[in-house]
Amino acid sequence: MLKGSFPIGRFRELKTPFYYYDLALLRRTLDTVRAQLDLNPEYRVHYAVKANANPVILRTIAAAGLGADCVSGGEVRAALENGFRPESIFYAGVGKSDDEIRFALQSGIGRFNAESAAELEVINEIAGGMGRTAPVSLRVNPDIGAHTHANITTGLAENKFGINYEQLPDILLLTQRLPNLRYCGLHFHIGSQILDMADFVALCNRINQIAERILRSGLPLGDINVGGGLGINYQHPNHLDIADFAAYFDTFRRHLKLPEGTLVHFEPGRSIVAPCGSLISRVLYVKEGTTKRFAIIDASMTELIRPALYKAYHRVENISSDEAEEIYDVVGPVCESSDVFVKGASIDRCHRGDLIAIRSAGAYGESMASQYNCRPLPPSCFDE
Ligand code: LLP
Repeated sequence: MLKGSFPIGRFRELKTPFYYYDLALLRRTLDTVRAQLDLNPEYRVHYAVKANANPVILRTIAAAGLGADCVSGGEVRAALENGFRPESIFYAGVGKSDDEIRFALQSGIGRFNAESAAELEVINEIAGGMGRTAPVSLRVNPDIGAHTHANITTGLAENKFGINYEQLPDILLLTQRLPNLRYCGLHFHIGSQILDMADFVALCNRINQIAERILRSGLPLGDINVGGGLGINYQHPNHLDIADFAAYFDTFRRHLKLPEGTLVHFEPGRSIVAPCGSLISRVLYVKEGTTKRFAIIDASMTELIRPALYKAYHRVENISSDEAEEIYDVVGPVCESSDVFVKGASIDRCHRGDLIAIRSAGAYGESMASQYNCRPLPPSCFDE
């Protein structure tokens, strides 16, 4: 079986489970993104911190000059502490608390992406009390479905996100009327793990339509934030280790029709960090069930919940065995039937103590870890 290259000697000394990050791959990914930005002076990229807020990862991304997309006061703080410039930090989310709004204003972040009239009133009031003006974009619900898992589609009318685009002109007027707000633009996001560029074409068409309507009614457009969502290849992490950024940016280049000089912001999370991370674990027991063979490993849904929560696929490799492949259900020790990484997977024959790599786990792995069953949060290590 083709496997990733890992410092196995070093791994043998470490207590499992832990996250391993290939920073060389992360840097190559960031170089690929930067090369795309060089082609488009109007494009700005803000890394979606929710995908992975590990300080070493954040510092590496900040050093490449990207901004940050945050969804909580904690993420804004993490971004500030790890080298992101305040003005490059955008803060989104349907439920910002007063304390979070105050903290973001104090920190001088670049943008609030607001999601309702009620939120605008609150930001205006808090900013007024602090003698500040809040830079605000409006998150629009474009009512566009993305061909991805239902739990990670966000742009449909039935989802809780964004402002209905029929109400947009009124809310835009309100934003301009409130004295402590500065209207800056529109924000969109249709979902995550999107591989079909046609979904982004649909988003571009909807943005063009909304922009035209706004400009026709004499309102200002400001800049456009198209959100995140570019998917990665979970099946073949060894062949396809960098997301198709060229196809992605090219889609927006070809299909967005905006007035000359309009800035376009992007918020990729998964596509930046997923490929560079693996969850490393050890086989505890091999168990012959009545109909199945189980590899019971010491990692669980508490380190990586994606398979249990979304039935997401992650490639599993036995990186310390070269024996013939066998079929296993690879499962964790947590007391839930859903604590399964993969079913019926063909992997090199497992023995107690073998090292297992669960691939493409750099996004929404460590950042979604929990302490269920009183398990400790996973530590991390990096290539050198
Ligand atoms: N911008 C906004 C407004 C978002 O809601 C998200 C993700 C992103 C950007 C970044 O999207 P990305 O480029 O990573 O697709 N936990 C799920 C994914 C949830 C995504 C939530 N929003 C998973 O493990 O698949």
